[in-house]
Amino acid sequence: MYAAWTVKHKPASVAEIVGNTEAIKTFSEWIKSWSKGVPKKRAAFLYGPPGVGKTVTVEALAKDLGMELVEKNASDYRTEEAVNRFAGLASQYGSLFGSRRIILLDELDGLTGNADKGGVKAITDIIKTAQCPIVLIANNAYDPRFINLRSYCILIEFKKPAASEVAKHLKRISEREGIQVDENALKFIAQRSEGDVRSAVNDFQALAQGKKRLTYEDVSWLGYRDRQDSIFNLLRMIIYSRTSASAKQAVDMADVDIDMLFEWIYENAPEHLTDPHDLAQAMDALSMADVYRGRIRTTQDWSFIRYVIDYMTAGVAMSRQRSKSAGWTPFKFPSRIQMLSRSKAERAMKLSIGLKIKRKCHISASRASKEFLPYLRIIFKNNAEMADGIAKWLDLDDEMIAYLKG
Ligand SMILES: Nc1ncnc2c1ncn2[C@@H]1O[C@H](COP(=O)(O)OP(=O)(O)OP(=O)(O)O)[C@@H](O)[C@H]1O
Ligand SMILES: [Mg+2]
Repeated sequence: MYAAWTVKHKPASVAEIVGNTEAIKTFSEWIKSWSKGVPKKRAAFLYGPPGVGKTVTVEALAKDLGMELVEKNASDYRTEEAVNRFAGLASQYGSLFGSRRIILLDELDGLTGNADKGGVKAITDIIKTAQCPIVLIANNAYDPRFINLRSYCILIEFKKPAASEVAKHLKRISEREGIQVDENALKFIAQRSEGDVRSAVNDFQALAQGKKRLTYEDVSWLGYRDRQDSIFNLLRMIIYSRTSASAKQAVDMADVDIDMLFEWIYENAPEHLTDPHDLAQAMDALSMADVYRGRIRTTQDWSFIRYVIDYMTAGVAMSRQRSKSAGWTPFKFPSRIQMLSRSKAERAMKLSIGLKIKRKCHISASRASKEFLPYLRIIFKNNAEMADGIAKWLDLDDEMIAYLKG
């Protein structure tokens, strides 16, 4: 039903990858050098933190150069035997169809313990005689297990791209999706991701999908504190908790406003509780939470807050009895908050036009916006010339004019 934007907007060409220009250049030159014969080092070891574009660099470059890419990951090199199964691929350059080949051994960190020692050794042996480029990827190339292996590789470090680079990538996605995003909203998401492009894209999708416009207000409340416990993880912890204690605990760990969290749970629970019975239970729990929220509002007795929290976290988590996994379903921004911020913006606009009218007509701004605005709207929609004159007289700016024209 949903496509993850990390897949949908995965860079198809190296040119679309942000950051790590030097690393990508070194890597690409090494791959290209194979066309002039087997280079001194037959393997490249790309390493660096998660989500910065290591895997996608190899995939995009293979595509750019029209090379065949054979991808292997941890499950393919559990044992020496498993590794040797694809050794043959490395011993000849070029495939059946004549295109040249790259062998990618991704997620080498997945090799664990003694059982895999033979695996690393077998990989080293393949590299020694490889007739095509072998690419290794791990988060940490300096793991002691790789000491011997390392000496056969050129080491290429991938670093976290700067926030401005991450924002560039988000910007491209927003253009493709037709979403208008405030510059500072993009910057905020980018900074918050701390160089993890994958998580930036995921956050961005959850916040922006289905919207026409994303403003700074829509994102700023997410806060900077501990990105790992972002609202999305928090929601996951609450909705998919197996115990009531862990569902409640999630709230303590996070730095979110309880009312805001309520809206997020209310908006997202239906998509994640696929069983109608479970959903009815969850909605019951949320309605109880809301009852106590109401009591707090009227009595200002904040001791009720623990019932609000219990119902909206444990109550929702424990409703999950028969629901099957919803598959990969992104969390959505609460539509009620969206509506509120939209009407808030509209109220602010009306008032600012009211202030302009006040200056000329000597009536209060709120009365002006109530009594004059409807007529102004009719004029601005139907009589451009008269609208022009009024706009000049009242000294309206472009945004106000656009608003009056609808
Ligand atoms: N530098 C980047 N430019 C553009 N998109 C990126 C970049 N880095 C990551 N992405 C996006 O995030 C997804 C995951 O990136 P990738 O698989 O390359 O990360 P990785 O560095 O291999 O991380 P891991 O160490 O977790 O395997 C990509 O499919 C792409 O959508
Ligand atoms: Mg990867």
